[in-house]
Amino acid sequence: MSTSTAATAVGIHDLSFATTEFVLPHTALAEHNGTPVGKYHVGIGQRSMSVPAADEDIVTLGAAAAAPVVARHGADGIRTLVFATESSIDQAKAAGVYVHSLLGLPSATRVVELKQACYGATAALQFALGLIHRDPSQKVLVVASDVSRYELDSPGEATQGAAAVAMLVTADPALVRIEEPSGLFTADVMDFWRPNYRDAALVDGQESIGAYLQAVRGTWKDYGEQGGRPLEAFSAFCYHQPFTRMAYKAHRHLLNSAGYDTDEAAVQGALGLTTAYNEVIGNSYTASVYLGLAALLDQAEDLGGRAVGFLSYGSGSVAEFFAGTVAPGYRAHLRTAQHRAAVERRRPIGYARYRELHGASLPTDGGDHPSPEETTGPFRLAGINGHKRRYEKR
Ligand code: CAA
Repeated sequence: MSTSTAATAVGIHDLSFATTEFVLPHTALAEHNGTPVGKYHVGIGQRSMSVPAADEDIVTLGAAAAAPVVARHGADGIRTLVFATESSIDQAKAAGVYVHSLLGLPSATRVVELKQACYGATAALQFALGLIHRDPSQKVLVVASDVSRYELDSPGEATQGAAAVAMLVTADPALVRIEEPSGLFTADVMDFWRPNYRDAALVDGQESIGAYLQAVRGTWKDYGEQGGRPLEAFSAFCYHQPFTRMAYKAHRHLLNSAGYDTDEAAVQGALGLTTAYNEVIGNSYTASVYLGLAALLDQAEDLGGRAVGFLSYGSGSVAEFFAGTVAPGYRAHLRTAQHRAAVERRRPIGYARYRELHGASLPTDGGDHPSPEETTGPFRLAGINGHKRRYEKR
């Protein structure tokens, strides 16, 4: 074990994402419910949404995101795996334990699941940074994985999606150095929630947008009071994107509340590259803000040495604003081709098939129920037997 000094740079050393087998274009949803497609493409800024196959879930997505990270760096030094999700599959066992097993990680690992709506992955990242400050020789694998699900024929339906992001958090990171301070904000609001007895989230759409904006203002105020960077120091901003237009609403609100003009070209310049994955994947809850980072890094001209602002919002609500500095030379470590392939490999489905998948739930009778073999991804949920999920590597 080595001891941290104040100068130790810590942050995201590798980042990889995975998404589902299927994709539903918003044109199909619009055709089903008679909505003008412009409301989806322009109004909320979404083109399609990822739909899990019957044998995919947060575990298979999380393992698929993390496997390339472990393949590149090995498991040496990974002593903690933090799994962040708000679409948990078990009230007791951490989904990360299945991922730990599927990836063959050493038994000398601590594994835990974290929840606070879409904010969970940022909490995981902050906990990881603390662990590495304590012992810079260690690495933490953060996995953020979610399947976003609203009621059929509800306004939220158009903002579903699913994906997982895996981040290796280390000292001297190759991608992004995460800085202190953070701006924090918590408020007890009922804008979006999912009681234990429900599969689909409950949401008050307009209230949730207002709560998000209130949190943007709150985090920025605290960030300033904690001695954070001025707004003009940032080259880009990665927001939580429940739908991509929300990032634009949030950034305009941040500019207004900080006393700046909302020059549309400047807003586009700060956000434009961060929405590419989210607009075709949909809301991936905890993973969303880090899909924004992936899109930025995969597309931008060299950002080495530049500062990026992150705004993580989780309904209920908890939010955090923090800064990262992109590491010089980061482009050699990106997974751009893998990310594009993850998006492009999805098979389009029609509305009827999507509805069937949406309505399916795992049997609860304790019997032996193999899952239909649908996914072509690297891991699958093979079935459920005696109330136990069985996973396999394909
Ligand atoms: N062409 C272009 N634009 C159109 C249009 C058309 N034909 N028809 C409508 N629009 C525009 C509207 O003017 C509106 O734009 P503004 O927001 O700029 O006013 C936009 O499309 C959306 O229209 P509505 O407000 O009428 O949409 P809605 O009420 O049917 O639903 C929603 C929108 C509230 C976001 C709904 O999808 C929802 O409830 N989603 C889930 C909740 C959510 O994502 N909340 C975000 C904040 S909470 C959070 O971030 C946490 C999380 O992940 C859940």
